[in-house]
Amino acid sequence: IETSLSDGPLKGVRAVVTSGPTHEAIDPVRYIANHSSGKQGHAIAAALARLGAEVTLVSGPVHIPDPAGVRVVRVDSAVEMLNGVRAALPADVVVCAAAVADWTVANRATEKRKKKVGAPPPVIELAPNPDILMTVSKAEGGLRPRLVVGFAAETEALLDNARDKLARKGCDWIVANDVSEGSGTFGGDANLVHVIDADGIDSWPRMGKDAVAARLAERIANVLRGL
Ligand code: CTP
Ligand code: CA
Repeated sequence: IETSLSDGPLKGVRAVVTSGPTHEAIDPVRYIANHSSGKQGHAIAAALARLGAEVTLVSGPVHIPDPAGVRVVRVDSAVEMLNGVRAALPADVVVCAAAVADWTVANRATEKRKKKVGAPPPVIELAPNPDILMTVSKAEGGLRPRLVVGFAAETEALLDNARDKLARKGCDWIVANDVSEGSGTFGGDANLVHVIDADGIDSWPRMGKDAVAARLAERIANVLRGL
């Protein structure tokens, strides 16, 4: 039985977590998406709630249950995800674990695209999606959370790419995650991560996604309490 610590170290803290993929519609029956189970993001939302935080989980389409003790906002597209996050602000901490589609479909059809004999296949035009992590990290008017955490799933040059993302996005931590073939982590239950911040790199041993979530929630609690 999971119980949330209403007197836990994150009591009174407002947290927002993004999780899962986004779906960008091509037409009413087709979409573009990234692979994402939502396991890591959902586990982080649950772990923050267990420490007493008031958690809003903004989740793209996933096939796993809602975590206990968390308010879940379900979305499809990246634009909807950004709106869901915005509506949940202000927050003390935002964790962006979603695998957001980098592009949306500019020429989305309102009716199903039909094959026509002899006609060439349709051309899908892409347009950039908003960057939710960057938008939150650079938010003004007192809406910048005290702590913003992003993820970097990379197949090569993990630490260089992750450090670059930390600088470019303006977040406080990047959780860098090796998803190369052979790392054995993608879609599975284990994860091998490095937490990168202005002070350096904290490399964690391979552990379950629930354990990564628990350790990350603890690290968040320590920082927010000024430890
Ligand atoms: N992210 C986001 N909104 C986007 C794209 C990414 O919030 N439109 C967040 C992800 O949730 C993750 C971080 O940004 O926390 C890094 O995502 P990633 O896809 O690795 O970075 P990109 O900047 O999109 O770069 P690329 O895909 O080219 O590696
Ligand atoms: Ca991306």
